[in-house]
Amino acid sequence: MTTPKALVAGNWKMNGLKAAIGEITRLNDLISTSGANCDVLICPPFTLISTLVGMGAKNVPIGAQDCHMNVSGAHTGDISAQMVAELGCGHIIVGHSERRADHGESNDTVKAKAAAAQAAGTNAIICVGETIDEREAGSTIDVVRAQVKGSIPDDARADNTTIAYEPVWAIGTGKVPTAADVEEVHREVRALLMDRFGEAGSGVRILYGGSVKASNAEELMSVPNVNGALVGGASLKADDFYGIISAYDKIG
Ligand code: 13P
Repeated sequence: MTTPKALVAGNWKMNGLKAAIGEITRLNDLISTSGANCDVLICPPFTLISTLVGMGAKNVPIGAQDCHMNVSGAHTGDISAQMVAELGCGHIIVGHSERRADHGESNDTVKAKAAAAQAAGTNAIICVGETIDEREAGSTIDVVRAQVKGSIPDDARADNTTIAYEPVWAIGTGKVPTAADVEEVHREVRALLMDRFGEAGSGVRILYGGSVKASNAEELMSVPNVNGALVGGASLKADDFYGIISAYDKIG
């Protein structure tokens, strides 16, 4: 059994103008000075990727929030995985619930995007999670199972796959599932990964996302099979985000 090194990843969503560059400088400095017992990643909007990578902030790798499923072609306004990989992104988020909802992305679409991300040499962070209606109907595990099984590409490897469990109702709401609920879902996802990848499935990170902040990070990140966080709002300010990273000083 391999326990993956934890990853605390920030998803800036549609936030960040040039003024946000200072947050990367600050985060890089905080990590240089006080350390990080986990890997760190920031996924800014596409418009900032080149600038942020170009800063060379060695403690703050940069990823992307989405990609097109094709390598190139007539897809006005879209960005391919190769394009962000060429800029220096090592991770690409795919299938975030906001894309599933706002852009009608199905598991098939997410699977194709994840395949494109992996073909470009990046690690695909595949997001899954139930809505409040699905939770209240008692179908959380079924929904997450279907999303995980339906969204992992056929030729994915354990070492280029990450799963992020983000209950839709916990995103940006300040509500979080109980530790027991998180544990149940992550245990199920781990079992699916072991089925899929064999022993290597134990090394795939399963991130939790949804209203993670410094005050709840230690509890959530201590849950078995939680190998880090995918953070929205609390990733926008370096000090808030570093508060989550430092939860790993106590978890060890
Ligand atoms: P919040 O941390 O703002 O709830 O967002 C979580 C998320 O959607 C990260 O992808």
